[in-house]
Amino acid sequence: MAEIVVSGMRPTGKLHLGNYHGALKNFVALQEKYKCFFFVADLHALTTAYKQTEDLAANSEQMLIDWLSAGVDPKKANLFIQSDVPEVSELNTLLGMITPLGWLLRNPIYKDQLNELLARKYAGQLKGDENTPLAERVKGLADEDISVYGFLGYPVLMAVDILIHKAGLVPVGKDQTAHIEIARDLVRRFNEIYKTEDVFVEPKPLFTEITVMPGLDGHKMSKSYHNTIDLGEDIDSVRKKVMSMFTDPNKKKATDPANPDGCVVYAFHKVYNPDYKKRCEECKAGALGCVACKKQLFELMEPQLTAFSNRRKIFENDKAQIVQIVKDGAQAARASAAVTLAQVKKAMKVTR
Ligand code: TRP
Repeated sequence: MAEIVVSGMRPTGKLHLGNYHGALKNFVALQEKYKCFFFVADLHALTTAYKQTEDLAANSEQMLIDWLSAGVDPKKANLFIQSDVPEVSELNTLLGMITPLGWLLRNPIYKDQLNELLARKYAGQLKGDENTPLAERVKGLADEDISVYGFLGYPVLMAVDILIHKAGLVPVGKDQTAHIEIARDLVRRFNEIYKTEDVFVEPKPLFTEITVMPGLDGHKMSKSYHNTIDLGEDIDSVRKKVMSMFTDPNKKKATDPANPDGCVVYAFHKVYNPDYKKRCEECKAGALGCVACKKQLFELMEPQLTAFSNRRKIFENDKAQIVQIVKDGAQAARASAAVTLAQVKKAMKVTR
């Protein structure tokens, strides 16, 4: 039997090239080899953005359209929206019962995210640095926004996403390591308490070779840094962005030798140009000016981006097809989830 893969993404609106090269491209490859469940983690979005829910449904749909436009194929992979599978919420309740609070409070991702969210929300008003206890950092400021049960329980819900389909492999970024660890620990704890080995599979993370995609300013590409190129973005806008990318400031003339390390254009060449090593030498030797280098980069990016945009337009104009894909996906995911949920209830003796 083919190994089962589960992965999800929180719907944050339109995806950018960082999302594509960091994760989505990988979904497209994985669907050829494994039985895949890829889902839009809308409940996970609620753990932090529970007050901004106007766009949640639209964002979830937009994300699915991005996946389809990138080549994720509902005939090969199972695509669904997390909240369409109520079995997930039920198992979340059950596994919540056996999750020690300490695991959640010590979760480094929880602490980091809390810090990051607080820093963004209270920019300029936070006291101390990241090592200062949270309660001290936000003294006098309302921190109730993200100090909620749901956010603390993020890893339980994520474990449920994975365990409910008995996935052996979970493609995630290295930043999610602690969450996978909690999922594995929960399996062991469940097995120990209920004296069984037959319900869950202990999942392993599948770290892909990370394509580091910097943003236009050289920092990590991220929506919150406003440095993205979006999938499906107007091609003229992409051209402008590429032509205004940051390069080695020491290179004043086209013939000046330069240092490609730290140059955003070069980082993009690494992703789009199979001959990027040659480009590195040319850059160091001052054999090519930055304008020409950028033009070439844009030409390498254009076919892929245009193909994506064209596919996106087709899906955007075929709402009925999207509705059907989401419906079929939910049905298949629910069938798979129901099997595990029934086994869990039996093991925990919550059936009559
Ligand atoms: N926490 C993941 C992230 O932020 C998203 C996610 C939710 C996920 N549930 C999952 C990833 C289950 C893999 C498997 O990237």
